[in-house]
Amino acid sequence: MRIRPFMPNDIPAIASIVRDALRENYPTSLYLDIHRWWRDGFLVADLDGHPVGFLAAVLSADGQARVLMFAVTAGFRRRGFGSQMMNAFIQVCAMRGIRRIELEVRISNDEAIRFYKRYGFEIAQNLPKFYTDGEDGYKMIRHL
Ligand code: ACO
Repeated sequence: MRIRPFMPNDIPAIASIVRDALRENYPTSLYLDIHRWWRDGFLVADLDGHPVGFLAAVLSADGQARVLMFAVTAGFRRRGFGSQMMNAFIQVCAMRGIRRIELEVRISNDEAIRFYKRYGFEIAQNLPKFYTDGEDGYKMIRHL
């Protein structure tokens, strides 16, 4: 497995991971926009030429990073792929002088919350009804 930058022809595979793992459906243009906004912040976990996970982030106006999407295909979890992507992403942020990474996560998503805590993220805020299905979210933040 190697971590590499996103390429536009990854979109079908990534959209399928998003559908299965994040229960969301986005138009192709969204992935292209994220890529255009911050190329280094869109990473893919590539196993023998096939995307098995990805992390997509944007930069906010005040120079913080925000992780929009982060997922590994169900059958490939708990093998360290998520950790490798998060480590690579933190390195990208450090090299750019970013001081803060933030993200939102469903309050029921124990697995991801545990993962993020292991990576130094802390719950900073409750986000009532943050998701379209009415579930609350947590804003989590990590300082670099
Ligand atoms: N054998 C057994 N366990 C292992 C191994 C191994 N070889 N390698 C790692 N692990 C354990 C880790 O210790 C970790 O345990 P912990 O959660 O108790 O701390 C666990 O496996 C997961 O670590 P990784 O394997 O590095 O991460 P993974 O590849 O499973 O990806 C992720 C983590 C992305 C959160 C994954 O669970 C996922 O895709 N979830 C569904 C989608 C999701 O909820 N994404 C986050 C939404 S929030 C957002 O997008 C901003």
